[in-house]
Amino acid sequence: MTAPIWNTSAPGKVILLGEHAVVYGQPAVSMAIGLRMRVHVEPSTMSSLNGVQLTSHNYSYVSACLAKMGSAPMSVMTSSDFPSGSGLGSSAAVTVALIAALAGRYGPWKEAEVAQQAFEVECEVQGRASPIDTSTCTHGRAILVRPEPGEDLLWQMSLDSRRWCVHHLDAPDMTLVIGFTGRSAPTGPMVAKVKRYVDRSSFARDMVEEIGQVTLEGVRSMAEGDLEALGRSMSMNHKLLAILGVSSPELDRLVKACLPHSYGAKLTGGGGGGSMVALTDRPDQVVEVIRSKGGQPFVASTNVPGVKEE
Ligand code: MEV
Repeated sequence: MTAPIWNTSAPGKVILLGEHAVVYGQPAVSMAIGLRMRVHVEPSTMSSLNGVQLTSHNYSYVSACLAKMGSAPMSVMTSSDFPSGSGLGSSAAVTVALIAALAGRYGPWKEAEVAQQAFEVECEVQGRASPIDTSTCTHGRAILVRPEPGEDLLWQMSLDSRRWCVHHLDAPDMTLVIGFTGRSAPTGPMVAKVKRYVDRSSFARDMVEEIGQVTLEGVRSMAEGDLEALGRSMSMNHKLLAILGVSSPELDRLVKACLPHSYGAKLTGGGGGGSMVALTDRPDQVVEVIRSKGGQPFVASTNVPGVKEE
């Protein structure tokens, strides 16, 4: 008898508006991109990732997924279209795809359950987190996260006194070009850094609220299909994130270089390295500029499906 095998995939993501502030309950917008993480799972005598045995010191997301799903030892193999630590959601994508693969042992799974379990894993491993990354990788397409439920609500999640309502968002057609700085930056320490600042400074708390306002303006511009105004909100969001201390010289350099060819540009994800994203109607020029500044460009297709069986 051949061993059962489960194959799934989940997309990477770019946060268009509102990262970090979303951890404090502010609104945020995120889009899935056409770069995917594929996961292959099969029973084994010991748990491993890409042939390396899991221990208490490595691959914490994979170990946490196996523990959460009460799994017997599994061999997990992954292959990804995008680099890990690039701010494009590799940890969330692997978590979501693996949870779905393990849930698939018992039959069809529901998106909302996968999103909830993946969020719990991310909180456990990363420390403080919002459900934006795991929800985007689960649902695909685009999502709007905000504190109150509204039209197109997908699911709600809460932690301590915070609540996030995750909505499907119809996004207009747009071209996004991502620039990876080449410097991996784990999200957890950046989230912890912002928390220290927010805890001790009312100025930082004001910046978080301001990001929420800029995000809401951007959401209105998206609904009107006004890409110029959306781009302005993205660029303003970058400035506010830089004030919060989560940009880096490499990110600032790439954002500045892209601006003359874009509606707007900003860092995306945790920051401190990782990637930036530009909204543009001149993708070839933006790709060229990112490359000339030492970044790794990706033209991102959007409106892509979330987690699925392969
Ligand atoms: C990271 O992609 C997004 C952050 O807002 C963290 C989170 O929401 O969990 C920085």
